[in-house]
Amino acid sequence: MAFDISRRFLLAGSAGAAMSSMAGLATGSAAAEEAGAFTPENAAVENPYLLGAPEGVALLSRNENPYGPSKSALEMLAYAGKKGAYYTSQDSIMMLKEMIAERHGITPEHIALTTGSGEALSAIAMIYGPNGPIVAPRLFWDTTALYAKRLGMAEIDRVPLTPEMDVDLPSIEAKVTEDTGLVQLCNPNNPTGLVTPASVIKPAVKRMAAKTTVIVDEAYMELADAPEETSCIDLVKEGHDVIVTRTFSKIYGMAGIRMGYAIAAPETAMKIQATAMSWSPCTSYAAAIGCYNDTKFIDYSKKKIVEGRQMVMATLDTLGLEYLPSQTNFVYFKSGLEANDVQKAMADKKISVRGQYMDYNEWTRVSMGFIEDVERFCKALPEVVGA
Ligand SMILES: Cc1ncc(COP(=O)(O)O)c(C=O)c1O
Repeated sequence: MAFDISRRFLLAGSAGAAMSSMAGLATGSAAAEEAGAFTPENAAVENPYLLGAPEGVALLSRNENPYGPSKSALEMLAYAGKKGAYYTSQDSIMMLKEMIAERHGITPEHIALTTGSGEALSAIAMIYGPNGPIVAPRLFWDTTALYAKRLGMAEIDRVPLTPEMDVDLPSIEAKVTEDTGLVQLCNPNNPTGLVTPASVIKPAVKRMAAKTTVIVDEAYMELADAPEETSCIDLVKEGHDVIVTRTFSKIYGMAGIRMGYAIAAPETAMKIQATAMSWSPCTSYAAAIGCYNDTKFIDYSKKKIVEGRQMVMATLDTLGLEYLPSQTNFVYFKSGLEANDVQKAMADKKISVRGQYMDYNEWTRVSMGFIEDVERFCKALPEVVGA
């Protein structure tokens, strides 16, 4: 939905001023009040998509966790907001690094903290892309590799998936030489939701890392069945040329707050940190520190996401539709119809799902949202697919 700037300022200058003063928000000066200030109330009326899902819309297209942010994150966020006049302190950066290091049995020097894991992944693509092609599965979260490509700093060499839609590691490995810039894997993969198990991914990554750097994007790893066993962080610890990225955007429900990290050899982590284009706000650090060890919230989120996933899979089973056994907060299924038509039919029912990826025209990705939103999707699906 387009946001009309002129209307925005009109509102800010009149009704906005009235509403902000009604809400008791002092703007600090009479002039500022005259100009008006946005409040959560008037901003949402003016632009329903400004923050999160608009009223009545089941937002199931973006792999977010609507149960977040946790109370632990929000309390720290509010506290940090009041200190927003100050640049992020080195102490908060070090504190978060130490917490992450402790959990994974690494040192703070192994960690680069970035504004979401996307920033680390973009930095990695820019560092390694100029050395040679980025070898990757045909379907993966390619946004950051494409970013480097757009800048003329990388080419992507995509390797077809297996007929089961798995990442074809033997074929990827067969392509890798010392002239490969980077191998990029995503485990669990997006949009398929499939996990490559530890027994398959770890030996292959080790062998490839003897020739070039391997990045394993583990944005959804906390949602997998056996995260610790499956993660490639062990390989970083063992000294292989491997980088792992993680994020607070998924299970932690902080996609809009922005915090992510890369785990790598200290000299690599330093390069990623130096190449990243910005530094995160103090609010992001505070929120991440607040919830990083909030196991109650993490367990609750995982439970809800798995519940939603099972509901979707049961519906797909009833309809006899093919789907991939996801270990993430989304399910990729084959409707047999054009994915963009499914997206449109769902949108007509105020349910937002993803449209077509590449030439996978009959596959749709639906993300887990609130259980009641997943229920709406499950109810709408038979009609949309004409069952
Ligand atoms: C697989 C994967 N990696 C990384 C990201 C980037 O997320 P963020 O930058 O919010 O950490 C996404 C976002 O959807 C993703 O799907």
